[in-house]
Amino acid sequence: MERSLTMEIVRVTEAAALASARWMGKGQKNEADDAATQAMRKVLGTIPMQGTVVIGEGEMDEAPMLYIGEELGTGSGPNVDIAVDPVEGTSIVANGSWNALAVIAIADGKCLLHAPDMYMKKIAVGPEAVGKVDVNASTLDNIKAVAKAKNKQVEDVVVTVLNRERHTDLIAEIREAGARIKLIDDGDVAGSINTAFDDTGVDLLLGIGGAPEGVLSAVALKCLGGEIQGVLQPANDEQLARCKEMGIEDITKVLRMDDFVKGDDAIFAASGVTDGELLKGVQFKGDSLATTQTVVMRAKSGTVRFIDGEHSLDLKPNLVIEE
Ligand code: FBP
Repeated sequence: MERSLTMEIVRVTEAAALASARWMGKGQKNEADDAATQAMRKVLGTIPMQGTVVIGEGEMDEAPMLYIGEELGTGSGPNVDIAVDPVEGTSIVANGSWNALAVIAIADGKCLLHAPDMYMKKIAVGPEAVGKVDVNASTLDNIKAVAKAKNKQVEDVVVTVLNRERHTDLIAEIREAGARIKLIDDGDVAGSINTAFDDTGVDLLLGIGGAPEGVLSAVALKCLGGEIQGVLQPANDEQLARCKEMGIEDITKVLRMDDFVKGDDAIFAASGVTDGELLKGVQFKGDSLATTQTVVMRAKSGTVRFIDGEHSLDLKPNLVIEE
């Protein structure tokens, strides 16, 4: 895969973040998502690659753009798999709260897991705790393992958990273990990635979230030397059949880094839509200026870049904003 794609994908998430940030706090999550999807689609069409969406806005008959199977790019260049979430945390944008991201991951063709739209039980950790945790181990054992790996007291470990009823027992177990919790309303991609950045103050992500989000998180964590493990949670016969179609016969199979993304030729970018622990959200300034912050990374080289963007809204570079 061309190294230059790394910089190209920054334009993709910047465009999505700029477009959806216009909808911040307006209580209209679908509009925020549509704006980001259109902006992302437009920029993706300009990139020299032969891309296929493997994780996107839904099946072909459900989504007009960025649907699974859609071919993107100029049609020349490398053959790649594309995973996108134009707004990871649509409700976050609608509420103007914390940690909404525009996200993309790209890998060599046929290297990304075509994760179906269903839940997945996950554990995600940063580099120090790689190989020390197990998605099927007890909550206490995982917390102890992370504490030991990071040379911390259990009481100092912070676990990110989606604030959902399904996590009542998990939350009780974490509290009983003595660790601390950061409950998030949405956005477990940010929750997973944050485990690999010491400054975020987060050590571990536990719980059940979206399977497609698991793949996006896995690409980021591969670039960062962290780890995610997942177990699909089909809720009915149809979802069970989807798992089998994907070649996952044993539904209890633990999906590991190389199941999510084969090899190391993968890149990832996320731009903040709203402010978060890792990235600043979009700000609209006077004089038709907007600012973005993006993290972009490449698994092969381990390079991680934070890019501050300034965008002239008069010139509308790359058609980032549609009137
Ligand atoms: P959306 O951006 O599609 O709203 O997803 C946000 C999210 O919180 C994900 O980060 C998470 O994996 C999933 O939803 C959890 O699903 P649910 O809201 O059904 O618990």
